[in-house]
Amino acid sequence: MSRAESIYLKDYKAPKFTVKTCDLVFELYEEHTQVTNLMSIERVDAGAKDLVLDSIDLELLEIYLDDEKLPEKRYVIEDEHLRVLDVGDAFKLIIINKIYPQLNSELEGLYKSGNIFCTQNEPEGFRRITPYLDRPDVMAVFKTTLVADKERYPVLLSNGNRESNFKLDDGRHGATWFDPHPKPSYLFALVAGDLGVVQDKFVTASGKYVRLYIYTDRGNESKCKHAMKALKDAMKWDEEVYGREYDLELYNIVAVDSFNMGAMENKGLNIFNSAYVLADEDSATDANFMGIQSVIAHEYFHNWTGNRITCRDWFQLTLKEGLTVFRDQCFSADLNSKEVQRIEDVDALRERQFVEDASPTAHPIQPDSYMAINNFYTATVYEKGAEVIRMLHTLLGEQKYRKAMDLYFDAFDGQAVRTDDFLWAISEAGGIDLEQFKRWYYQSGTPKLHVDEKFEDGKYSLTLTQKVPKAVDGSEQKPYFFPLKMALLDESGKEIEAKTLIVSKESEEFTFKVEKKPVLSINRDFSAPVIVEQSHNDYAFLMKHDTNSYVRYESAQSFGLQTIESMMRGKPIDEEFVNAFGHILDEDKLDHSFKALLMELPSVSAIMQRQEVVDFELIYEAKERLQKHLALTFKEKLLVIYNENHTPDSKELDALNIGKRAIKNRALKLLSALESDEVIAIANAQYNSSVTMTDRIVALDVLENISPEFSTVALGHFYKKYNRDTLVMNKYFSILAASHREGTLDRVMALQNDPAYNELVPNLVRSLIGVFARNYKHFHAKDGYGYKFVADKIIDIDKINPQMASGLAGAFKIYKKMNKVNKKLIKTELERILLEPSLSKNVYEIVSKVLN
Ligand code: ARG
Ligand code: ZN
Repeated sequence: MSRAESIYLKDYKAPKFTVKTCDLVFELYEEHTQVTNLMSIERVDAGAKDLVLDSIDLELLEIYLDDEKLPEKRYVIEDEHLRVLDVGDAFKLIIINKIYPQLNSELEGLYKSGNIFCTQNEPEGFRRITPYLDRPDVMAVFKTTLVADKERYPVLLSNGNRESNFKLDDGRHGATWFDPHPKPSYLFALVAGDLGVVQDKFVTASGKYVRLYIYTDRGNESKCKHAMKALKDAMKWDEEVYGREYDLELYNIVAVDSFNMGAMENKGLNIFNSAYVLADEDSATDANFMGIQSVIAHEYFHNWTGNRITCRDWFQLTLKEGLTVFRDQCFSADLNSKEVQRIEDVDALRERQFVEDASPTAHPIQPDSYMAINNFYTATVYEKGAEVIRMLHTLLGEQKYRKAMDLYFDAFDGQAVRTDDFLWAISEAGGIDLEQFKRWYYQSGTPKLHVDEKFEDGKYSLTLTQKVPKAVDGSEQKPYFFPLKMALLDESGKEIEAKTLIVSKESEEFTFKVEKKPVLSINRDFSAPVIVEQSHNDYAFLMKHDTNSYVRYESAQSFGLQTIESMMRGKPIDEEFVNAFGHILDEDKLDHSFKALLMELPSVSAIMQRQEVVDFELIYEAKERLQKHLALTFKEKLLVIYNENHTPDSKELDALNIGKRAIKNRALKLLSALESDEVIAIANAQYNSSVTMTDRIVALDVLENISPEFSTVALGHFYKKYNRDTLVMNKYFSILAASHREGTLDRVMALQNDPAYNELVPNLVRSLIGVFARNYKHFHAKDGYGYKFVADKIIDIDKINPQMASGLAGAFKIYKKMNKVNKKLIKTELERILLEPSLSKNVYEIVSKVLN
């Protein structure tokens, strides 16, 4: 029943032809679009006879070869290709074809988001627009003409600079755009619509003037300020930190509501999921503002790491994504709080990537095979990829790293390259041998690092043993090479010694001369993406005294995990943890946001990851019991923290106010475990009086989980106020889908009929169905209805948008680790999905791998 073939990196072949220039004309109508594609093509491989173009679901009208109409016997229409027989060394090819963007619900290629025509071509969308050599190592100079009704589509955009505008007699108009930078087709974009615009400018370090535009649905212009500021900050940062300037006169960003991912770095014309552009204090949370800053920067940074230097093939995706995520993480760290940013990035990695890496869908950051490349825009390729670049940065140090990046840009600008080329530049300028380091690129799974300590006669020895998991196919994998930041602390927390060890062997010993037995602070800043296995009782000490904020946080987490695990084994609550927690509450010199992180209990996912066999009921029982115990023990202190930091009329976005909201909301959430009238009253008052979305969302979430009565009123009010703002409705659906209350599944099912919900819009599907599938309590309910519902939705949505469906299927990645009862229930559903006759290769790949 296999319906998808695997594609292998080892089968890579250079293109046989290349496209030099591509002139496109798009005639956009209400029912269809006609595309005229004029390419100048050259043969690269002398042995090649036929030109084979990628082409999916295209209605071919006419083909001309060097201005002669091509007779039908000269070409063959194959399943996903157009084969032009027996072509010359250099020729002009004109293809005229028809497409139906209005019917495109997959949101790949050219489609409509509301009334806006837009595109998404990475990785393989362009072949759904016109026949082409749709691969990143074919780079052409593009010229694009758009023709459309002037009333409906006054704004016409494409890559590069605008060359001309023109008017036609029939009420239509047109614009021609020219992008001087040769680029692969995945970076092609066009937009047509009736859009509002916000304008600004940026002067580059060398004095070039760049006009900046953000386009959005009319009425949303005032919500673009934060995005515009982020764009200018990113442009400046890339000049200062990497010495990279922008290279066109124009930078366009367009926000659309229907988008499969976060955003796309098309040359000179970024297209964004509106969730990563639009924000004001009334409708967006502090986390939303941060997300916008980082995604805007991410797409901007791609201009050098992605566009100027692109990938040879899609197996190299981490070349641009890992590197660009690392760049956006550093940017956010520089502009906000370094310590908080690092902890949040590590947390995000562990919540998503570690789970993936422990599952049958685990893959190296540079995979060696795939069925659907769209399934490989993963936390592994992105976030673990960024950790790998970070390790290189740590190994080289700031200066050599910059030298290496300069060499990378010098050597490969304008080319489509491999991760090996990148590593060559690092190795060359860094003066470092990376042979062993490369294993991070082709091995999968998260390594464990076992720590043994010994202290004797003034000698402290640290034995580190790497436990490298087997690959998914069962083959052995080898030990890694990585930097391990560590320190030895004395009894007052002072650093006796701090250094970066280079770990490279399966097991090795490091020794230090010290007078007294020190306390070990290990994997500082999370310098390597490994799981540290350590048994000690210094957590309370490290939580309080470590000079490294990441290790302080990590120690609080580890102590929490240890406490919850022993509760799950039937032991009483460890009062030492409770005391250590109390000490954190008492510390008043800490930054609020950081303190809020220290007060966070381990997530359900973090607990789950350490279980051999997972039963969420047991996890929730223990975690909720601990939370209630802390809330009871520290009720007064938590109320003081809440009251001191609750300033309902402030909506400032500075570190102080963001921190105050973070810590007071953390206190409120902890207190909510009491389920008391007092806490309900506080949450209700917060909902009614606060002026920020951050505060309202937390209040609603608390009410939803502990007070059906008050939440009905508050959510009703919220719905009435915001039901026409789809970005806010995402939050509404998420709160209900994440609820721990009885009856959540029934309510989620009913919400599908809500007028504000729309199965065609990925954000809404993710907010309702996606969030439910990560609501461990209800998704994993032992009656199996949660699984059945999500499986049904995967089957339905697969017919609309396979990428969305395979994203939902990701919720089943923990199948293997589940207890017998749940496992059997999941198996039934996954097998049912596989029986679907026209299942996409996207869903097939995930589900078949999970079951395997
Ligand atoms: N390159 C884009 C980014 O990371 C993501 C595009 C993903 N597209 C997709 N169809 N999976 O910024
Ligand atoms: Zn990216």
